[in-house]
Amino acid sequence: MAQIELLDVAKAYGRPKRGQEARKAVSDLSYVIEDGHFVSLLGPSGCGKTTTLNMIAGLEDISSGEILIDGRRVDDLDPDKRDLAFVFQDYALYPHMSVYENIAFGLRMRKVPKDEIDRRVRDAAKRLDIAHVLDAKPKKLSGGQRQRVALARAIARRPAVFLFDEPLSNLDALLRDQTRSELKILHRDLGATSVYVTHDQEEAMTLSDRIAVMSRGRLEQYGSPFEVYHEPATEFVASFVGKPRMNIFTVVRTEQGRYALPGTSFVLELGALESEEVRVGIRPEECDLRSPQQGEQPHGAVIGVEPLGNVSDVLLSVGEATFMARVPGFGSLAVGAPVVIGTERARLHCFDTQTGLRLRTAA
Ligand SMILES: Nc1ncnc2c1ncn2[C@@H]1O[C@H](COP(=O)(O)OP(=O)(O)O)[C@@H](O)[C@H]1O
Ligand SMILES: [Mg+2]
Repeated sequence: MAQIELLDVAKAYGRPKRGQEARKAVSDLSYVIEDGHFVSLLGPSGCGKTTTLNMIAGLEDISSGEILIDGRRVDDLDPDKRDLAFVFQDYALYPHMSVYENIAFGLRMRKVPKDEIDRRVRDAAKRLDIAHVLDAKPKKLSGGQRQRVALARAIARRPAVFLFDEPLSNLDALLRDQTRSELKILHRDLGATSVYVTHDQEEAMTLSDRIAVMSRGRLEQYGSPFEVYHEPATEFVASFVGKPRMNIFTVVRTEQGRYALPGTSFVLELGALESEEVRVGIRPEECDLRSPQQGEQPHGAVIGVEPLGNVSDVLLSVGEATFMARVPGFGSLAVGAPVVIGTERARLHCFDTQTGLRLRTAA
């Protein structure tokens, strides 16, 4: 059992300069990680993911706020009193110890009986398919095997909470996908609360029960993968989650109360909105492309086609804007072809031009 609660948590590194506040690495973090959930902290480099994880772990002090595990204040407890296990990007194995000893080390420190240690080490090694290298030293292992040793060491501890900091970043693409699938199965089997730092939206989407999307030290959205993808709370989330990236541009109200991309015939029905100008987003996979009918004004023209096999990404110029549409198969459009872009109202995302916050439109 471990529910983790962050209450208005902030971190400032270093001392404030005279008359100034210290710059905050993270601030205003308030959310609850439910017991047994797998939660990703997602955002670009420098947004405060590691800082947040280290504060949960107790490797960094918090500057203000509270962190609770199962309702108990932990932010002034030492890391080893918090019942967590950490898996880092760089594995942090002891080079002079065998794989067996690396996995057993933490248990020995905690005075777990010898036969219990042996059982746990072998069980963890079996789960992670490294039982055959228990006698080897880490330097004899591949990168993928080393990462498995680090995972096995965490599992053998049987902690209430697993913390991961970009654990797959040093693996090559194929191994990363494979290990990601195994992590998901592992979490399903163990059911322990897990907090997982990544800058990779695909990892966050595939693994998580909830995603905390962060930007510049702040929480942009806390929600399920479905919510973060289909109802992004801010323009930042909309542009960060999803590949290829969402098309986002500014549209201006027309006399008929619709919204047009300036200088084009690309006009959208957005419903009743207050603003003259709106940021509007459309995912590439939600755009239908077709050739204009006789006498119909095209919205833009094809400037490139990138076939990927099952789908093709079609690059369009629409007035001053560049636009990406993802179409099935190899597509039938040639470079230079005029196109009409079909979109569904329900698939459009609207954001405030000033605040970047999602706008809800009346019908
Ligand atoms: N020990 C430190 N001293 C001072 N600033 C730091 C320290 N660690 C991180 N920072 C700053 O805090 C911010 C967040 O960093 P970090 O949590 O490592 O981001 P992320 O893990 O998302 O890449 C960055 O601006 C970084 O430069
Ligand atoms: Mg980091």
